[in-house]
Amino acid sequence: MNVVLVGFMASGKSSVGRRVAKRLGYRLLDSDQYIESEQGVSVNEIFIHEGEEYFRKLETRLIQRLAGFDSYVFATGGGIVTTPGNMELLKRIGTVVFLNADPEDILKRLEHDTRRPNVRGEDRREQVHGLLGERMAQYQKADISIETLGKTPNQVAGEVIRRVSGFRREPPETVSAQTAGIQTAGAPSVAPGESAPNAARPSETAPAEAAGEPAPNESKSAEAPATGDTSPPTVS
Ligand code: S3P
Repeated sequence: MNVVLVGFMASGKSSVGRRVAKRLGYRLLDSDQYIESEQGVSVNEIFIHEGEEYFRKLETRLIQRLAGFDSYVFATGGGIVTTPGNMELLKRIGTVVFLNADPEDILKRLEHDTRRPNVRGEDRREQVHGLLGERMAQYQKADISIETLGKTPNQVAGEVIRRVSGFRREPPETVSAQTAGIQTAGAPSVAPGESAPNAARPSETAPAEAAGEPAPNESKSAEAPATGDTSPPTVS
């Protein structure tokens, strides 16, 4: 099983991902860090010299390479969902969790950021709201959505683990039986064209996480690795 974290810039994917990886004994793969180490330059420099489209191709190539990997937490870059087809590829890799952060929180964290090429200059508020608006429909295709407002990274990590461990993606066969109008004991049938009932929410039985940790800090360069192993996986 793998856990894939998606969400806007500075929504806590890296800091939460590191905690989730540590607690599950998984390895963390941060897509920006992977691409930077593979290319030998920063994401910023890739945007400047090669352009965003080139960077997006590197992201998609990385997702494709991850097929077959197991026990990874994959912390993605915020714009990975903008490439058509990427969300579907991510869902093949693992359970996709959207960390839904408050736009005002995001703005605060990006206020002095110089590392992210897509939010810079004076009109950051406009940029954040604009990009969020463009991307939200894609983020919402995630298997699980978690609101991060007012929660510590530890709390969010605990919620990710609880929700992911209770999550089962509904197999297509079940959907066809329902949409075909086959009545199962105790369950209402769903006529063609009607939407299927919501899948049962995962159980929330895992122990609550310790609180009291500082808010997520998206300054990746200052963050220690999750498992002490940041080397990219060997991929061919
Ligand atoms: C981007 C998000 C960044 C990084 C690049 C582009 C985006 O990752 O991939 O700067 O377009 O949202 P983070 O979400 O980790 O900041």
